[in-house]
Amino acid sequence: MKKILITGGAGFIGSHVVRRFVNEYPDYQIVNLDKLTYAGNLANLTDIEDRPNYRFVKADITDAPRINELFLQENFDAVIHLAAESHVDRSITDPSAFVMTNVIGSVNLLNAAREYWKGSYAGKRFYHVSTDEVYGALSEEGMFTEQTAYDPHSPYSASKASSDHFVRAYHDTYGLDVVISNCSNNYGSHHFPEKLIPLAINNIKNGQPVPVYGKGENVRDWLWVEDHARAIDVIFHQAKTGETYNIGGHNEWKNIDLIHLLCRIMDKKLGRAEGESAKLITFVTDRAGHDLRYAIDSTKLQQVLNWVPSLQFEEGLEKTVDWYLENEEWLANVTSGNYQAYYENQYKSR
Ligand code: NAD
Ligand code: TYD
Repeated sequence: MKKILITGGAGFIGSHVVRRFVNEYPDYQIVNLDKLTYAGNLANLTDIEDRPNYRFVKADITDAPRINELFLQENFDAVIHLAAESHVDRSITDPSAFVMTNVIGSVNLLNAAREYWKGSYAGKRFYHVSTDEVYGALSEEGMFTEQTAYDPHSPYSASKASSDHFVRAYHDTYGLDVVISNCSNNYGSHHFPEKLIPLAINNIKNGQPVPVYGKGENVRDWLWVEDHARAIDVIFHQAKTGETYNIGGHNEWKNIDLIHLLCRIMDKKLGRAEGESAKLITFVTDRAGHDLRYAIDSTKLQQVLNWVPSLQFEEGLEKTVDWYLENEEWLANVTSGNYQAYYENQYKSR
């Protein structure tokens, strides 16, 4: 029987990971620790919240005494660490919040694991969930491999790179059993609508301008979130200690092409004339330090652990649009209050 601490389980990817582990492993005890920031939402987990192998703990990973107390009480076998500040635009406005949660919070978890697993690391595992953004930006050619040197550009990616280095340092220095995965951009249900795809779906639905940064020529490599959760499951159970895996779906899209595809899907779903939604596309001032292109080479994961993405992008995007159209209440709840203030501030001068 395993007791696993999943951090950030009320967020976008974390909620998919929690759901997968609760459903797939009824013998495991899953403890979801989350601060419930603007991005954390327990409504993401209503389908599994009453399961006997699931429990939620509201806590902040920057609060070291609280984290230590929890490790002392719970005797976890493993940590899957996803809690983070995750939005690049917010990191440009307020980098310190990213240092606090992504760096200090991660080190607090590593310290607790080191302290309470001391002397008996066997069977214990610290899995750190990271991003491809630590590798920096690509020009038109090439892909990120596990050997690509770190070269983060935004405060977000710098804070994630820093936490990755700490995780490896705790493996090399103290012998902690760690694994790290670096994944490309995710999309799917329960994605907070400050990120490109859910923001665009929400705006198209409401007939609002769809802001595209610069000329829309930046390229992102999109992976369905449930494929990411399945990759985390496989890596958690099968990777050798100290290993790193890149996760991605070989699915590169220029932002502007993606938005046009989304507009075509939404025209169909909303019964609009073809080309109607695309009229909402509005080019706005580019993001400072905007990384041109991300592309992940996930050959290692595919060859060593036999993981392959399950969904074609067009199919996944359509499923995602359907989910947002069927879950108006979820969308209305997360876009009220603070979201409105954030939106005003972020886009008023662009
Ligand atoms: P998210 O912003 O949707 O969720 C983050 C969660 O962490 C929220 O539930 C939030 O309440 C919680 N949290 C934030 N600060 C906390 C704190 N101090 N203490 C406890 N909980 C806190 O993020 P996401 O998109 O689900 O990303 C999850 C992880 O995956 C992050 O580590 C991110 O860097 C990584 N990642 C994300 C993507 C992506 O495309 N979204 C891609 C690769 C890697
Ligand atoms: P985002 O979803 O914020 O993810 P990331 O910056 O981590 O890749 O942005 C995805 C791409 O979309 C990125 O190139 C920035 C761009 N973008 C826009 O053009 N308009 C927007 O309103 C947002 C939020 C992002």
